[in-house]
Amino acid sequence: MRKTLRTSLALGAVAAMMLAGCSTSERGDGETPTDTGTGTAGSEAPAGFDAGAKIGVSLPQQTSENWVLAEDLFNQGLKDAGFEPMVQFANNGASEQQQQIGAMITSGVKVLIIGAVDGGQLGAQAEEAKKEGITVIAYDRLLTNTKDVDMYIAFDPFRVGELQGDSLLQGLAALKGSGPYNIELLAGSPDDANSAKFFDGAMSKLQPKIDDGTLKILSGQTKFDQVATQGWKAENAQSRFSTIMTANYEKEELHGILSPNDTLARAALTAVDQAGKDYIPVATGQDSEVESVKWVLDGRQYSTIYKDTRELVKESINAVIALQKGEQPQINDTESYDNGVKVVPSFLLEPVVVTKENAKEVYAGDPFVGDLVK
Ligand code: BGC
Repeated sequence: MRKTLRTSLALGAVAAMMLAGCSTSERGDGETPTDTGTGTAGSEAPAGFDAGAKIGVSLPQQTSENWVLAEDLFNQGLKDAGFEPMVQFANNGASEQQQQIGAMITSGVKVLIIGAVDGGQLGAQAEEAKKEGITVIAYDRLLTNTKDVDMYIAFDPFRVGELQGDSLLQGLAALKGSGPYNIELLAGSPDDANSAKFFDGAMSKLQPKIDDGTLKILSGQTKFDQVATQGWKAENAQSRFSTIMTANYEKEELHGILSPNDTLARAALTAVDQAGKDYIPVATGQDSEVESVKWVLDGRQYSTIYKDTRELVKESINAVIALQKGEQPQINDTESYDNGVKVVPSFLLEPVVVTKENAKEVYAGDPFVGDLVK
């Protein structure tokens, strides 16, 4: 059974487990995470640093609105907390991000908060950072295959996938009558460590229904590699769906689309529309992007996920504040996210699934989409 994220476990026990390296490995398909309670990200107190220190925030391409929101929130929030922010996007990809992080290290940042373009390509930079005594925080996306990442702060991506899988099944039952249902799958960019987590979480819900014949995938494309979308680019998802529509849905109806985020959901739904269909498949999404919230309210996109960027940035800045004071940042999970070298101590936030039914309640007061539900 999944426990709540903040069940209690003594701090000492968390630290001892981490020191002994006895955390269990990352969860696999279908497993639910075992949360290990609140604690802190390491066993020794960090050194602390000057109150006005420079803090580096390296963000990936602006492939969804959440990253754009994060830029302003980090700049403002870090300034308000007395730090000197250095926030940059790596719009040209992984090698640009490597250079930017290198420059941040040289300029004397005390903490690096990284939303990786490619989580597997920053090992050398993380190692260099650690040599300089810089704390490395993986933001939203895990850094993989490196021991030099201190903590991970994210809306639990496996949980996001589970919610998407459940929501697709719910939408199909509610809107398309009884099964079997024809669905097609989409996943995010293969270089983003989140993509496989979203997909695995969703498939933990969908695979049993594929196995028992409730769900059919006429394209036959069921593996992550077959359904991934390079660069999270809408045009890649749209052209793949156009091809699928022509090849498989001339006569059959496509009932549902598992989409990992809003941008790709709109792309796939557009392909279905452009194929001349007079029906709308049940589609999942993520991020609560303005356009998709409108589509959810209009009934064009069945669901999205709310991951309040303000919360994620706030938790990241809280970690910086703790480190500045020489304290360990809070964590609430030491088991779920194995990066291939170690299980990374994490602070995981709980994502929320949103449909037309609960949109008003969930978005009330949100500065970016709140007005749409007034
Ligand atoms: C984020 C999603 C986002 C996607 C594309 C993922 O790593 O978790 O929120 O939709 O990147 O930008």
